[in-house]
Amino acid sequence: MIDTKLAWIGEEIASLKEQGLFTTIRTLGSAQGAWLEVDGKRVLNFSSNNYLGLANHPRLVDAAKQTMDTYGVGPAAVRTIAGTMDLHLELERRLAAFKGVEAAVTFQSGFTANLATIPALVGKGDVIFSDELNHASIIDGCRLSRAQIVRFKHADPDDLKKQIAATTEYGRRLIITDGVFSMDGDVAPLPALYDVASKHGILLMVDDAHGEGVLGTGGRGIVDHFGLHGKVDVEVGTLSKAFGVVGGVSAGKQEIVDWLRQRGRPFLFSSAMTVPDVAACIAAVDVLEESTELVDQLWSNAEYFKQGMNELGFDTGHTETPIVPVMLGEALLAQQFSKRLFEEGVFAMAIGFPTVPRGLARIRVMNSATHSQSDLDQALEIFAKVGRELGVVQ
Ligand SMILES: Cc1ncc(COP(=O)(O)O)c(C=O)c1O
Repeated sequence: MIDTKLAWIGEEIASLKEQGLFTTIRTLGSAQGAWLEVDGKRVLNFSSNNYLGLANHPRLVDAAKQTMDTYGVGPAAVRTIAGTMDLHLELERRLAAFKGVEAAVTFQSGFTANLATIPALVGKGDVIFSDELNHASIIDGCRLSRAQIVRFKHADPDDLKKQIAATTEYGRRLIITDGVFSMDGDVAPLPALYDVASKHGILLMVDDAHGEGVLGTGGRGIVDHFGLHGKVDVEVGTLSKAFGVVGGVSAGKQEIVDWLRQRGRPFLFSSAMTVPDVAACIAAVDVLEESTELVDQLWSNAEYFKQGMNELGFDTGHTETPIVPVMLGEALLAQQFSKRLFEEGVFAMAIGFPTVPRGLARIRVMNSATHSQSDLDQALEIFAKVGRELGVVQ
């Protein structure tokens, strides 16, 4: 029997399907890697954020198994109530040292790291200056804070200056930007944003979710990439992308981290990362500190793929990182493209509204250190075939 209270959901879903915006979630039958079993089919993987191949790295898997023998699986409560495992403190010390900051605190995910950090730093009567393309978790963190939200034009420090000048009523102020913009692969102009922030005495926060393990020396992130150590007040990040596990982190000035342990609501009211996650993340820091090999391989794979796509005539936007958007325009075309890629053996997702603006639908290709040269050549061949078939390239 149809529940009339819920009829609107059916209508909304039908409308999403009509517009090519309904998300179908595929089922994976294998561990992460260059190749995956997806819906029972073996395909080349260009969808995951497994930049360095750490999601199924033997060192991380072993660390998780061994640590569970001593610590079990879960923390069993929030850290402020039941106490914190020394394991979590060790990870936080290791992350702070890796990133070259005073201190770090972990959360359950990158999303909750933003929900914890932003409302702890600003509230009612305060102002946030937020890049217009910031990630949904930053937007939600801003809304939860109840501070006034002023959007500045994407990656535009001059517009930021204008917005600051036009905002005269405020208590505390905070500038927030994504480090790497996850749908376009471009990098925030952090040195220029820092100049504006320091000139006006405004707190500066960067979300380095796609920069960690990718940018900077050996993957130390966007602050290291630009040599801004000690200048950015707080870096939010995730342990679910290049780190290959799950979890979030806020890293930076000691006072801010101390404050987040007192006032970060997902820290105070939600349980900590699980034991295998923490152990695997510590092993990830070990791997990254020992060698830059995986990060170097990621960048050389990404360059090879991007160049190949450009030679074929694809528009790859203005990416500066291993994220390669293949710009297609209409959502229905992007869905059709992704479907044909899959039939030919490449798993790369179509991204449409509301994740990106209407009319700017794309296939987002996530490069990884795990791809071999022949994987990349095979993918380029399949992109060329589907691109010609659908009239995207000649
Ligand atoms: C910029 C940015 N921040 C935060 C997140 C959320 O990270 P997590 O998956 O760890 O919650 C993402 C993930 O898509 C992201 O791209």
